[in-house]
Amino acid sequence: MKRRNMNKTTILMMGILSFTQVSTSLAQTKNKTAIYMNQHKPTSERVQDLLGKMTIAEKAGQLNQINGGAFTGPALNDEGQKGKMDAVASGQVGSMLNVIGVDETMAIQKIAVEKSRLGIPLLFGYDVIHGYKTIFPIPLAEACSWDLPQIEKNSAVAASEASAAGIHWAFAPMCDISNDPRWGRVMEGIGEDPWYGALVSAARVKGTQGDLSNDNLLACVKHFAAYGTVESGREYNFTDVSRFQLWNKYLPPYKAAVEAGAVTVMNGFTTFEGEPVSASKYLITDVLKNKWNFGGFLVSDWNSFGEMVTWGAASDTKEAIYKAFKAGSMMDMETRGMVKFIPELIKEGKITENELNYAVGKILEAKFKLGLFDDPYKFCNKERESNEIFTDGNKSEALKAAEGSIVLLKNDNNVLPLNISQKKIALIGELAASHDDMFDFWIGQGDAKDAISLKEGLENKYKSNVQYAPGYSLDVKSSANYINDAVALANNSDAVVVNIGISGKMAGEDRSLANPIIPENQVELLKALKKTGKPIVAVISAGRPLILTDILPYVDAVIYSWILGTETGNAITNILDGTHNPSAKTVMSFPYAVGQIPVYYNHFNTGRPNPTDDAGNWYSRYRDIPRDPLFPFGFGLSYSTFEYSNLKLNKTFINKNEKLIVTVELKNTGNYDGTEISQLYIRDVAASVIRPVKELKGFQKTLLKKGASTTLTFTIGSKELEYYNMSGDSVLEPGKFEVFVGGNSKDVLSSSFELTK
Ligand code: BGC
Repeated sequence: MKRRNMNKTTILMMGILSFTQVSTSLAQTKNKTAIYMNQHKPTSERVQDLLGKMTIAEKAGQLNQINGGAFTGPALNDEGQKGKMDAVASGQVGSMLNVIGVDETMAIQKIAVEKSRLGIPLLFGYDVIHGYKTIFPIPLAEACSWDLPQIEKNSAVAASEASAAGIHWAFAPMCDISNDPRWGRVMEGIGEDPWYGALVSAARVKGTQGDLSNDNLLACVKHFAAYGTVESGREYNFTDVSRFQLWNKYLPPYKAAVEAGAVTVMNGFTTFEGEPVSASKYLITDVLKNKWNFGGFLVSDWNSFGEMVTWGAASDTKEAIYKAFKAGSMMDMETRGMVKFIPELIKEGKITENELNYAVGKILEAKFKLGLFDDPYKFCNKERESNEIFTDGNKSEALKAAEGSIVLLKNDNNVLPLNISQKKIALIGELAASHDDMFDFWIGQGDAKDAISLKEGLENKYKSNVQYAPGYSLDVKSSANYINDAVALANNSDAVVVNIGISGKMAGEDRSLANPIIPENQVELLKALKKTGKPIVAVISAGRPLILTDILPYVDAVIYSWILGTETGNAITNILDGTHNPSAKTVMSFPYAVGQIPVYYNHFNTGRPNPTDDAGNWYSRYRDIPRDPLFPFGFGLSYSTFEYSNLKLNKTFINKNEKLIVTVELKNTGNYDGTEISQLYIRDVAASVIRPVKELKGFQKTLLKKGASTTLTFTIGSKELEYYNMSGDSVLEPGKFEVFVGGNSKDVLSSSFELTK
């Protein structure tokens, strides 16, 4: 079982320090004059020089990544800390994960640099998913902001904090598209759209890596590829996508991240065309290396090489390593297979030294790029560690990010914003007060105790105007009944804010849910609250879209607050009282019922689409529920209202060298200044293969004063009209295209044009 909060590593500092007290660094003195230690030489020359000096065992050691701290996967190896440090000292380790903090990274780096024969520094990797100590909204929520500069900034802040704590390498961004809210890891991703997912993934890579200076980290594009399609939404399950869907739907975000310069890529745990992806030559060599010219290195996922044996794709670890290596995989997280079997496989002539040099060369190159050979301790700066982490500046970025991520799903009779200073508010819900449940698993060194709960956020701003009752227990097996107290409090108030949903602990890896719903005891609470006749605002916390169909009748407004991080309570308070007018739009559809999953906007038409739910017989639909999701992709309200009119295309025919200009009038028709995220979709009506009923190809975020209007202009060129064939080449086909513009993927204006030959 994984530990949720990755506490300080368990490494025995005393042991490490005595190890490093070897007076003169033998390795350094010996190698000082070597070409690879000469920073004036080009990297390629330094890499070749070093490779020329390394033994096969040392090369295999560079492919070995071992855990040095809290477990983020099953505990498989028991060499103990002394065994691990011995391995580092003898050049048998290229990288460690989960070692954090300047003291610890520095102590271990010293062993690598001073004790190992060639003094090759280690790379320290860590899951910096949505912050290191200042915790930002989960990636899925952040993506709902449609704010690429802020998204880039969030990754940059996370990288700067982690780099100040000795870390070199973030295992992020996760670029896995998913349509399945049963899968707990949707929280880490980009939602269901490949085009927008590509932009977000690229922004995250840029933010993380910057120019690879002192306060950046190497990024790691994961999990290659199509992990988000796990069957039944069940974690680590079989995946099976066609090349048609792979290229058009799943690969674009990874591709964009690679093009943005990501230095590393991580294999997934899953399968492609019947092979574990770690051994998919097609994905790794044909696509990543040859088609996309990826020049960095790959790391496996936690024991994903070893798990090939469990999948039944290799008879033992040696065969798994052989297959994975031959497919193009490189660094081995936690299997210990590369370090053990590569020398044997070379001896047996199954792998050539040239092949090994290629893989090792890529890892060394990354270390050179980061400047670790020139200063292995450049990330070990105590002053930075104490001054640059969890700063007020970083927290204010987290607040902006959180405000921008909150999606307003319902606001009947403009019950929001609430004039809290003039009202008595009943704040109800264990989630509003429980710090423990505010955070998910991937929070680096974030401490939920440091985060502002909704209760604290409201009380800090409005003190005695807010009274609290728990309303329900998050322990659904508990028989305690909190409903009567909550109803009494509601009766004595002007409005109710009820924070429902599921614990942050249920978001992330190994957190699949067959029923992503609002728990029954919370629904019962809402029913009782409804009877009070007071306006009811539901704030819903969850790391995924939950099914809200049953609760909508009992609430006047719904704020979907996801998991927002350090500034949760302040951000939600600013939305509730209107300090910040919500603008986020969901990047995952909210299913109407579990049986609809996967439901997504960019689906195919089928041969029998039903125009309405009661259109007669023989249509593609459900007999018991609507076909459409409860809230579609791109949906989100503002306290203002926006009206779209006058959609115009400048041409009805374009050729492949021309651009189509699409204009539309946007008017703020409400009573508040507000920001609208306008979306442009296309549909390729007839092509050699079927195309989705809508594909997002543009968006704009516009701040409009109340009553103001503006003309939005979008441009469509051949790039937006292409799709991928099964070989991953883009195809542009003449024919009719439809264009849609609106405030979400469903409510749109439409027009059409033709692409001529
Ligand atoms: C996850 C990866 C993560 C790795 C290291 C694995 O279980 O799938 O996303 O980077 O652990 O913590």
